[in-house]
Amino acid sequence: MPHITIDGKRIECKDRQMILQACLDAKLPLPHYCYHPGLSIPASCRICLVEVEGVPKMVPSCQTPVRDGMVIHSKSPKAVANQKQVMEYLLVNHPLDCPVCDQAGECLLQDYSYQYGRSQSRFEEDKHKKPKKDVGLNVLLYNDRCIMCTRCVRFTREVSGTNELFVEGRGHQEEISIFPGKPLDNKLSGNVVDICPVGALLDKDFLFKQRVWLLKETPSISPVDAGGENIYLHHNEGVVYRIKPRYNAEVNTWWISDDTRYAYKAINDDKRLRGARRMQYGSQINTAYVKAIEEADAGLRRAHAEAKADGSLYAVLSPMMSCEEAYLLGKYIRSIDPQAVLTLGPVPTSGQNEIFKHGMNGKTTFTIQAEKVPNAAGIRRVIALLGGPTASLEDLAANAKVKAGWIVGGYLSNWVTDALKLPKGFKIVQDTLPSTLTDRAEILLPAAAWAEKDGTWENFAGKIQPFTAAVAPPEGTTREGDVYWKLLGRKGLFNAEDVRAEMGEPFASIKLPTEHAAQPAPEFVEL
Ligand code: SF4
Ligand code: FES
Repeated sequence: MPHITIDGKRIECKDRQMILQACLDAKLPLPHYCYHPGLSIPASCRICLVEVEGVPKMVPSCQTPVRDGMVIHSKSPKAVANQKQVMEYLLVNHPLDCPVCDQAGECLLQDYSYQYGRSQSRFEEDKHKKPKKDVGLNVLLYNDRCIMCTRCVRFTREVSGTNELFVEGRGHQEEISIFPGKPLDNKLSGNVVDICPVGALLDKDFLFKQRVWLLKETPSISPVDAGGENIYLHHNEGVVYRIKPRYNAEVNTWWISDDTRYAYKAINDDKRLRGARRMQYGSQINTAYVKAIEEADAGLRRAHAEAKADGSLYAVLSPMMSCEEAYLLGKYIRSIDPQAVLTLGPVPTSGQNEIFKHGMNGKTTFTIQAEKVPNAAGIRRVIALLGGPTASLEDLAANAKVKAGWIVGGYLSNWVTDALKLPKGFKIVQDTLPSTLTDRAEILLPAAAWAEKDGTWENFAGKIQPFTAAVAPPEGTTREGDVYWKLLGRKGLFNAEDVRAEMGEPFASIKLPTEHAAQPAPEFVEL
């Protein structure tokens, strides 16, 4: 392993690693704009130039590989003068409109201006103004804030492979543009907002919604498909405002799909079910949540007793449930009827996997899974773990022996189609959005959305990943885990980690990422 010395500190590097990346890995900050670890390296912004002993001119640290014994200076008078100069040039035509810019608080132009720039502007001439552009369905371009780092252009060439963005003009008239009639509307388009180091590319959906320093960050997993993309939920005062990618080399690297990015809307949906209901003389009436749970339990026991045979109960385990919730529901239903049938709920798919390729070398850069639920694999694993009778939904519907059951939904949109067949008889339904099924449930228990609870999901590749609650469930709803916890007669609140320990391997050794530890947990109410 080569070693280099930078500003007097000796660090170990990987072979052929670039100086900048080696420093970033060693938590030694070096300014950089055009460099992004997921893209090619043009070395065009020049703010990362450093002095290397024995090399007559300064070199771009982002594009210069390390050599054993290299001695590097990023704080020498020459390096500092270059940083100040680059900052001054970048700000010549910048509108300095930080108070109204969405990027304020997470802007590299702001940060580096403070750390590496001058405190005062010497520019007295008129600034060259460029118009704002609507470049795509989700993205706005504030051209006069752009520093021409070309990260966004390289993204559309090298990751999405769709080539919508390009550099138009030259010199001070250079700007990012789209081709006529070809907007930025690929399914990864939102990533250009994340990689834009300044406030030039902004998400229309988040525009002017929140100041970023008010947002708290909770690591989570995408609920939109079986890919298991790693994400951060950004929320404030119990409301999720946006989703950002979380780097995971094995799953999604630096990127997420737009479906994942806007999945938070389902949490804030006005149509969310609130308040338990029960059927009385053919129509649903409001009831207290605790009472509804007691009646659900009594209804299942009654149906099982009347049937006078095991195998008369069932549970439809949704692929939106966490593995822990599915395990507890399975345990509970089998505690009444040891032969209760466990069934995986509908698994919607959409055609084939969508594969994105590098525009030049044709390598696959990102895949959007066709399976549009996050945990079908995990639910199959839990059903196998619990053993006992299982059936497909079709077979369950045709099974005249089953008299009552528990059905869980929690999908991001209406999942109850005309084709959905379910057994007749007493039904307890736990769901987040209204449907014809929730309308005809004997007991309706409004449930929590994924961002409001803890658990694990298994992706298409068998990777089991934990997620944790960012916000509390809205009033009138309860986390599924808490309901099963109570029905199993356990004290206190559902704890996903304890359930995983009970489930054994591979669940027992799943740990939350370390950053979870610092997260203040939302408050949950004991039933
Ligand atoms: S819009 Fe942003 S990402 Fe694109 S070139 Fe300008 S500063 Fe870079
Ligand atoms: S980050 Fe090195 S030249 Fe831009």
